[in-house]
Amino acid sequence: MAGAPTATYRVDPDGVAVISLSNAPVNALHPDVLRALFSHAAAAHADPSVRAIVVTGAGANFSAGFDINQFVSASGGGGIDGSINDAICAALESGPKPTVAAVSGVALGGGLEVAMGCNARVVAEGARMGLPELQLGIIPGFGGTQRLPRLVGLQKAIEMMLTSAPIKAEAAKKLGLADALAAKQHALDIAAGKAPRNFSLTRGDKLEPLGEALAVVEFARAQAAKRARHLKHPQLCLDAIQAGITDGGAAGLKKARGLFALLGGMGEGECFAAAAALDTHKALVHIFFAQRSTKKVRGVTDAGLKPRPMRVVAVLGGGLMGSGIATALALAGVDVILKEVNQQFLDGGMGRVKANLASRVKKGKMAQAAADATLARVKGSLDYASFGSCDMVIEAVIEDIPLKQRIFADLEAACRPDAILATNTSTIDIDLVGAKTRAQDRIVGAHFFSPAHIMPLLEIVRTKSTSKQVVLDTLALAGAIKKTPVVVGNCTGFAVNRVDAVIAGEFGMPMGPFRLNDLVGSDIGLHVGRNFVESFSERVYVSHLIPSLNDAKRLGEKTGAGFYKGIVEKPADLDVASVMAMGFPPFRGGLIFWADLVGAPRIVAALDALSDKFAPAGAGGFFKPCDYLRSAAAAGRKLSAGVVASRM
Ligand code: 3HC
Repeated sequence: MAGAPTATYRVDPDGVAVISLSNAPVNALHPDVLRALFSHAAAAHADPSVRAIVVTGAGANFSAGFDINQFVSASGGGGIDGSINDAICAALESGPKPTVAAVSGVALGGGLEVAMGCNARVVAEGARMGLPELQLGIIPGFGGTQRLPRLVGLQKAIEMMLTSAPIKAEAAKKLGLADALAAKQHALDIAAGKAPRNFSLTRGDKLEPLGEALAVVEFARAQAAKRARHLKHPQLCLDAIQAGITDGGAAGLKKARGLFALLGGMGEGECFAAAAALDTHKALVHIFFAQRSTKKVRGVTDAGLKPRPMRVVAVLGGGLMGSGIATALALAGVDVILKEVNQQFLDGGMGRVKANLASRVKKGKMAQAAADATLARVKGSLDYASFGSCDMVIEAVIEDIPLKQRIFADLEAACRPDAILATNTSTIDIDLVGAKTRAQDRIVGAHFFSPAHIMPLLEIVRTKSTSKQVVLDTLALAGAIKKTPVVVGNCTGFAVNRVDAVIAGEFGMPMGPFRLNDLVGSDIGLHVGRNFVESFSERVYVSHLIPSLNDAKRLGEKTGAGFYKGIVEKPADLDVASVMAMGFPPFRGGLIFWADLVGAPRIVAALDALSDKFAPAGAGGFFKPCDYLRSAAAAGRKLSAGVVASRM
């Protein structure tokens, strides 16, 4: 079990005090870690036997930054105020003894800011360093907006902050963010005056002259506005950087002064507080945890089972989807058998895998040699002869129920009895797919989104018979191929998800027509449909879907099922799915989070207004809020409280 968040302290025989940040698994900077860090640093400065101080992280990582849980539990930016910056200046940057950060694993956000507060950084091979705060809707708050430009230059610093992308140890060394020597020796060298002691907050040798620096910031502002016109926090980050350029690092750390302040510009402390107060920050923190929570499935990941390794996976069908899945698997080091029905189709499938890899090489994402090695992992096949070696098979053929049933019966005969049999169907009930097999417990849906080697979501569809082990193995495979998994229950018609996704689009419509039908109710849909047929008979296609939903008493959320069932385990799963498969803007936190942020009363009021507006045309009922929405609004209840799991 992980210990309490803290920082440990020891002084070695050479007089080097080693302070180790300790908060497994990533040494997140919980307030207790920061308190311990500063108190140990003060003790080291006061101890005459200490010549130099090394700050490091327990275990594999230096630190992944400020503890993001604090943003959820404490209001106003997790309780961050100027006192931490004062402590970094006093305890790490400018105390009587030199300080060196020994970085391995990750130094991100506040972690890198602590490292930059030290007088030098020694970085282990494979380490990654970055300021990804903007991904959480805030800006660096421990001096990053001031120190990073002074260490790596303004352009690179702005790029690192605005893209949130970390850099590797080798690049950090080239840029001057890291020093190459061993930490302890470097600290002693500084103490002995053999190496310079750098104060990154006040140095200016990497900064461009004022006019040029301001032009760089202006250019970055225009770029950021173009890329993300909805977002305020990138501009706040640039404000903080600009304050440091015009007023100096120490002023830029907290409050702008001078002309920039008169024009409304703010320093880092003020900008951090402004960003932390925005809904964008709340939404992005929600998505951070929601994405991680989808990997935890009650009754599966807490059942004491261990995932089995998926070393060989067969993919049936080399079309766009199948070749994308094969690419994703091979990229993760899995051996793949790609099966097709004839040589021509197989050549086409292998060609697509090759093209997917070539495109990565062209974009600089991998070297040609690595692409060749990846391609070599994919073996073509026209029969099931080698399927005995498979740990899993993913079927990705056309949406034809009898064909899929035949294939699954063949797979049952060709594969080991413990092999997982998965289907990538997006429309068909998984129970139907496996209806002609006996081994229902090892059948699962593995629903990729096209292009499968790029899209980050994997829907894992479990039926009532799918075993926990199979769900766990598929979750682990998702992790291995770098997909965010969302485990859902089985139901017909995943296609409606797709249609909804297209209609909901970038943001214009908060939900697609099928989701709207379920919210409003199929009975109302039927009534409105009749009105439409009467008024616009020449333009209306009469579908049998809504009447049949009514016949089956699937009236939508009011009866617990409509086009959709309540098929996810937690509301956050829907948020993640809407962000990763529909392109719902992450800075709005996902569909349900956004609806709760807006609030049921506002949604009800808007729908009522639309309902009144369109009543004269006979379409008012289409917008009328359903009872669930109305009751949530009346009771001040969150909508997410009603998106409850139906346990399989
Ligand atoms: N605070 C709290 N928990 C954190 C955390 C953080 N900064 N970073 C990671 N974690 C937790 C995750 O929630 C997860 O918890 P779980 O096991 O209970 O689900 C666990 O650590 C492992 O994380 P991942 O599952 O993401 O593991 P990976 O190995 O895939 O990735 C990582 C590790 C690259 C460190 C990734 O977690 C990450 O990018 N973390 C966020 C880094 C970040 O955004 N830092 C900035 C924080 S804000 C800040 O510092 C403000 C400052 O400027 C004032």
